[in-house]
Amino acid sequence: MMNCNIILCGFMGSGKSTVGLLLAKKLGMSFIDLDTYIEKKEGMTVSKIFEKYGEPYFRKVEKESAKELAGKNGLVIAAGGGTLVDKENADTFRTSGKIVLLDLPVEVIAERLKGDNSRPLLQRPNKDKAMRELYEKRMPLYKSAADITVDAAAAPLIVCGRIIDAIS
Ligand code: S3P
Repeated sequence: MMNCNIILCGFMGSGKSTVGLLLAKKLGMSFIDLDTYIEKKEGMTVSKIFEKYGEPYFRKVEKESAKELAGKNGLVIAAGGGTLVDKENADTFRTSGKIVLLDLPVEVIAERLKGDNSRPLLQRPNKDKAMRELYEKRMPLYKSAADITVDAAAAPLIVCGRIIDAIS
């Protein structure tokens, strides 16, 4: 039987965690951020995991964690920006509830991520170019993973309302 979770998917900076927390409150569900779950499990920040063990190790823990959360019920889950790019993770979450893509133009994302130094994938000399390339590569994959796409270029409460309208 299908579990009834809501999984928020989208690029870094798309508001998955902020909108997810609000959405959970509104719907009387529990909120879990996949990155925070991983950080608790590993006892260190995502940046530290990348630095110490590298990206493949992070992806392995991310996959295990996705399976663990997908097995639960009544959760709003904020996925990481790379989670739903992986086909196996997309399949895991598809059987666990509704996958909602928070869709934002790359310009808005770029503005939001400008001063950010918490995302290991963007810690490179030409951060803006790397971000745009990753966005182009990932957007089609997010779209094929998602059940619903919501225009997320608005305040969190508005995005929350759009999600509720779309899923009900
Ligand atoms: C990643 C996004 C991050 C985090 C990790 C990798 C990605 O999550 O999982 O840094 O591959 O896009 P956020 O989307 O919450 O920043």
